[in-house]
Amino acid sequence: MSQVYTTDHSASVLRTHSWRTVANSAPYLLPHLKPGMKILDVGCGPGSITISLAKHIPSGHVTGVEYVPDPLEGARALAQAEGVSNITFQEGNIHALPFKDNTFDMVHAHQVLQHITDPVHALKEMRRVAKDGGIIACRESAELSWYPESEGIAKWCEVTERMQRAKGGNPHPGRMIHVWAREAGFDSRSVEKSAGAWCFGSDEERVYWGGSMEDRARSSGFAKNAVEEGFAEPEDLEIVAKGWRQFVEDENAWFGLLHGQILCWK
Ligand SMILES: C[S@@+](CC[C@H](N)C(=O)[O-])C[C@H]1O[C@@H](n2cnc3c(N)ncnc32)[C@H](O)[C@@H]1O
Repeated sequence: MSQVYTTDHSASVLRTHSWRTVANSAPYLLPHLKPGMKILDVGCGPGSITISLAKHIPSGHVTGVEYVPDPLEGARALAQAEGVSNITFQEGNIHALPFKDNTFDMVHAHQVLQHITDPVHALKEMRRVAKDGGIIACRESAELSWYPESEGIAKWCEVTERMQRAKGGNPHPGRMIHVWAREAGFDSRSVEKSAGAWCFGSDEERVYWGGSMEDRARSSGFAKNAVEEGFAEPEDLEIVAKGWRQFVEDENAWFGLLHGQILCWK
């Protein structure tokens, strides 16, 4: 199975991802987290959501998996720094999860299905390793919105979406992940759909989001691949970086990201 993740795990990418917690990126899970649960977080990246999940279930255990080892050492160090020990990080591909059938009470993936070639197969794998009665939970980007108009942000969207499509991924599939779940074998009564949003508008939020996007346009796997693989010229990336810099500096600027979310019961 070919890999389609368009960026890498460089510092600028991990910086964006490690801000994430259950509260800001997966609050739809909160009513379903129970003491003693065994949870799998697939495509865990730097592990901040994984660690946040582990903090919610101190008597349970959370396993984070990534298809490459790059972010795992950082994830382990972050867990140790935060005093979280009910957690394990290991390599594992969502297309062939290294676990027996019926292992976990909850199998979660945040912004992973959009980066892979066969999301239906991935959902079948997530379902396989969940226990009977267990939950499969996914949240994926559905729609972006921002103010004011920005040539740089529009170009960033255009280049990232074109790269993702060319590599077999699906930009913004949040609007249809429930359909993939049906194709993976869940019936409509066992799939609950909802939506959740990120909004970056305060000075601090714009520095975090716009600043890390500016860094990613200047130095990351995204920037390198975009140029080397012919999706953008270095001047395009400069326009993207400047667009994000203006976003950080404009106190009227605002960026929102709507996610589609599903909870599926096995
Ligand atoms: C947008 S990041 C999300 C990371 C993390 N879930 C979060 O929200 O902070 C997507 C992650 O999916 C991982 N990924 C891509 N293809 C994968 C695969 N086939 N199996 C497992 N993980 C994969 C990438 O390495 C990356 O860390």
